[in-house]
Parts: sequence; structure tokens; C-alpha cells
Amino acid sequence: MTNPASPEFLPAGSRAIPIRCVGTAGWPETEAALSSAQRTYLRATDFSPKPGRLALLPAEDGSIARVLFGLGEAEGAGRDRLAAGRLPGLLPPGSYRLEGGIDPAEAALAWLLGSYRFGRYREATGERPRLVAPDGVDAAEIGRIAGAVAMGRDLVNTPANDLGPAEIAAAACDLARRHGALIAIIADEALARDFPLVHAVGAASVRAPRLIDLTWGSPDAPRVTLVGKGVAFDTGGLDIKPSAGMLLMKKDMGGAAAALAVADMVMGAGLNLRLRLLSPAVENAVSGAAFRPGDVLASRAGLKVEIGNTDAEGRLILADALALADAEEPDLLIDFATLTGAARVALGPDLPAFFTEDEALAGAVAAAGLEAADPVWRLPLHAPYASLLDSKVADLNNVSGGPFAGAITAALFLRRFAPKTRAHVHFDLYGWNPSTKPGRPEGGEVQTARLVYRLLKDRYGG
Ligand code: BES
Ligand code: MN
Ligand code: ZN
Repeated sequence: MTNPASPEFLPAGSRAIPIRCVGTAGWPETEAALSSAQRTYLRATDFSPKPGRLALLPAEDGSIARVLFGLGEAEGAGRDRLAAGRLPGLLPPGSYRLEGGIDPAEAALAWLLGSYRFGRYREATGERPRLVAPDGVDAAEIGRIAGAVAMGRDLVNTPANDLGPAEIAAAACDLARRHGALIAIIADEALARDFPLVHAVGAASVRAPRLIDLTWGSPDAPRVTLVGKGVAFDTGGLDIKPSAGMLLMKKDMGGAAAALAVADMVMGAGLNLRLRLLSPAVENAVSGAAFRPGDVLASRAGLKVEIGNTDAEGRLILADALALADAEEPDLLIDFATLTGAARVALGPDLPAFFTEDEALAGAVAAAGLEAADPVWRLPLHAPYASLLDSKVADLNNVSGGPFAGAITAALFLRRFAPKTRAHVHFDLYGWNPSTKPGRPEGGEVQTARLVYRLLKDRYGG
């Protein structure tokens, strides 16, 4: 089953209104080629090719002859690679095609990403403009990427009353069935025995915690393991969040959504790798069964963890999943998590932080982010800060006592649980667009998935 809400292209050959994208440099030439009536119209309506400006040029009969769409300094470093993602929100319903002035594959992807709407609770009113897939682009590939992103956004946008640990696992099972992957869901006694931190964090909720373990592909192929934080809702636990901090915490499974989206793209494209996806799915709730500040918990890796703050729950559940991943020393280990407010303070909502000790991999991640218009920024795994996590009674504390370097100490905590795997990337993401930007509608966002897919495709694509 593909996502019914997932935007799709119109079939090639459909009649469609042409859209001409124009930057400042190409504007005089484009303008000169128009009819004098059209030039008069543009002057009368004060059109200029500034970013996001739109002109609907009328034909003699009053229909729309063509659309002009401004890109500004199209070659400038500041240009928005997903600028065309604004078009579906600007244009009247109808059929359109791109007529040049822009990278067709990038613009087509931006269009589909910008056409997304979350329609679970309220039917969207009115038709949307639709795009004919541009000639020469891989429409199936672009549709696959946009479909995976739409699936992930739906998961993030779905509130916790309809998306608990069981529903996260159900989404993974659905994905496994669509692509013929194997999947195991570990719960109950087996979870308590083998993944004690996942069990402890999830224990307060009436909706039981579980660990998703999906595998796909040839066992002999390079092994890539994705780990996604699946906190269906983060109240903070007993160290409860204030209301403003809790308001958006349905998105605390944004890491799981990103990992599932990457898996969807990888399996859909049939990349030559052995994929494993691990996601601890829990609700960090408040009850008499909750884990407490001061508790000392065993972990899968054997390290004993003192709880300094129950709101640092993501690193706890990831620790057990990373320990499982690390046991088979994958060729590449990537974890995704809405892990710290500190990463947001440092880089803002649109720029996820990433951490790795592998310099070559760091370069490849940053480059793939630029190529895929899915940018990220590296923060350091500054080893001396690991002592901030020292505990007087256990092997380590789950938080540092002080206010400094919260994203870094969280990343250093995770590294303790995957000591064997060198090629490990940790993404600390926000998972949400606070306001609409081209190709990125306000609401749940699947960050870093297109980047990781690009990286994997470069390495393992046919
Ligand atoms: N899920 C939150 C982190 C978060 C908060 C991400 C807001 C995005 C936006 C995480 O579980 C958390 O609560 N982290 C704490 C850690 C602290 C207690 C050391 C944080 O960042 O405040
Ligand atoms: Mn928390
Ligand atoms: Zn959290």
C-alpha cells in the first residue's frame, strides 16, 4: 500500500500550463520573448523575478497561457534549492508543466514535497495544482522519495492518542510487508530481560514499550543499520516538562519516522545492501510505575546508568538499541533522534546536528546533505566532555549536571553503547517545521532521510 495522501505526478503527455522559472540574470531575455500585451500586463502588475513572485499570463481567451515564477539570484549561494516547492501553494488548481529555467528533477521533488497535506482528521478542501513529470527525470524515483517523506510526516503529525508504541510498530510492519522485509517486535518479558532501559522508560505507560527489528536484503551485502528514537509522547516522565515544552512532544518519534522513511526509499530502490532498522518505541509517561530520578538501571551493554533526569529518556532507549546494533559491527550505523533541546538552541529548527568520529564519513554526510537539499551541520564529539556524565554510584549518569554542551554530552552518552562501530553517525533533529517554507509545509518534518538515502545510493546504488 502506498500512502493515499502521498502527492503524485500527472501522467506524461497530459495537457498542462507551462511554468517558466526566471532568475534575475535570465529575465531580460525571457521578457523580450513575450508578447507586447504580456509585457504590458507584467509592468502593470509590477512583476519582477524576485524569489517566490508569480505571474499568471492571460491568453487572448482569458485562460492562463503560462506562468512565470521568480527565482531571484538563481545561481547565488543563498538560493533555496526547494524554491519550486512554493508553487503548489501559490497556483490555482489545474495541470502544469515545467518549461525550463530550473533543475527539473530538483523542482519536481520540491513540488511533491510542497504538495503534502496532513489529512487524517479533516479532508483537505479544494483541488491542488498538479504537475506533469518533466521529461528526462526519473519520476518513479522522485515519487518514491516524496512518498517516503509523506509517510514519515504523517507519522510525526499523528497525535499520540492515535500513535502509541503499538502504532509505530504497526507502521514498521506495514513497511516490511510492502517490501518483503523480515520483522520482529520484541515486547513483554523478552524486552524486560534483553532491553532493560527500553522497558524501564516505557514502564509508566498503559501502552507497552517494544523494540522494532526489521531486516531486508542479501545477508552478504554491506550491512547498514538505522536506529530511530520512537518516543510516541514525551511528558518528561517524573521530571515532567512544563506545558510549553510538552506541547509538541507527539513529534518525539521523529527519529523513528526518519529511519522508516530511509528504509522505504532504500528498499523501494532495491539498493545493494543488507538493511537493519531498529527502533525502540515507548511512551515516556507519568505513573506509579515510572522510573525515577536517582534510580540506577541496568542496560543491555552491561553498563549501569544512574538517572539524573527522566526527561533524558531518548538516549536511554537508544543505548539498548545501539548495543544490539554494535554487536554485529555494521559497516555503517546511523541513528536518528529528536534528542536534545540544546541542538535546537545551537542550530535552529531547520539544521539538524550530526556527530561522527569518522572524518571521511563526516565529509560524505555534509556533501550528501548539500546534494539532497537536506542540510546538516557537524558538532564535535569532544571526548573530555564525557566526564560531565560521571556518576558517583554507577558507570555513568544519563545527564550532565550543568547547562553546557547538552547535544554533545547526549552524543557522547550514545557512543558509550556502540564502542566497536567506528562508522557511526548520530543525527540530533527537530522533526518539525515551525512555519511553512518552500517544500516544507508547517508541521511534522522528516529530516535527514533524503540525505542518508543519497549517501547510501552513492555507496550502494546500482
Ligand atoms: N525529546 C526531548 C528533546 C527535544 C526537546 C527535542 C524539544 C526537540 C525539541 C528529549 O527527550 C529531552 O527532553 N531532552 C532534554 C534533556 C535534558 C533533560 C538533559 C532536553 O533537551 O531538555
Ligand atoms: Mn525527554
Ligand atoms: Zn524525548
